[in-house]
Amino acid sequence: MKQFLIAPSILSADFARLGEDTARVLAAGADVVHFDVMDNHYVPNLTIGPAVCKALRDYGITAPIDVHLMVKPVDRLVPDFAEAGASYISFHPEASEHIDRTLQLIKSHGCKAGMVFNPATPLSYLDYVMDKLDVILLMSVNPGFGGQSFIPHTLDKLRQVRQRIDESGYDIRLEVDGGVKVENIGDIAAAGADMFVAGSAIFNAPDYRTVIDQMRDELAK
Ligand code: DX5
Ligand code: ZN
Repeated sequence: MKQFLIAPSILSADFARLGEDTARVLAAGADVVHFDVMDNHYVPNLTIGPAVCKALRDYGITAPIDVHLMVKPVDRLVPDFAEAGASYISFHPEASEHIDRTLQLIKSHGCKAGMVFNPATPLSYLDYVMDKLDVILLMSVNPGFGGQSFIPHTLDKLRQVRQRIDESGYDIRLEVDGGVKVENIGDIAAAGADMFVAGSAIFNAPDYRTVIDQMRDELAK
């Protein structure tokens, strides 16, 4: 098993002080910045785009930026995010007309590529693309908003994806997004995840380091 990565979702950060808040959460021990892009079309919410990603880089954020595209269409934004400093770019397969092409596009721009599965999206989208994936992101809530509750049946799906990754022999991260908290991160890791997105659990706490330390303690059990 790989080292566990904790990826705070800056959707729950203070947008008026985004650079400062992002730097604070990284200084508190986070590994990766999770960057939620919503377009009011694929999901019913509107957030941030490539200009904000670039602004974080210009501010001095050097940690990996994990761009989660909740947009349709997908491809047009890929070069823009790569240029803006994205490290990972993940998309929802049902939002892309040509999944293989989108994956190749992400890789050709030098980013790590991921596919995202909503709680009810079938895993058959994985069938022909395992060799092109750096990350599989399983949503444990329906996408669009922070602060929702973890959907328990996604633990079964996690176990299935863990098995598929292990059987494939490819080096693929298994990321979970939605409702991750200190109380459930241990169960999520036991089901096979190695990368954890947490928005409200971290940013709504008075001290980010305390929550991140508690999460790491749970992961070490
Ligand atoms: C939801 C986003 C998540 C979300 C996580 O569509 O993809 O990244 O912000 O927030 P919490 O951890 O609050 O569920
Ligand atoms: Zn996300």
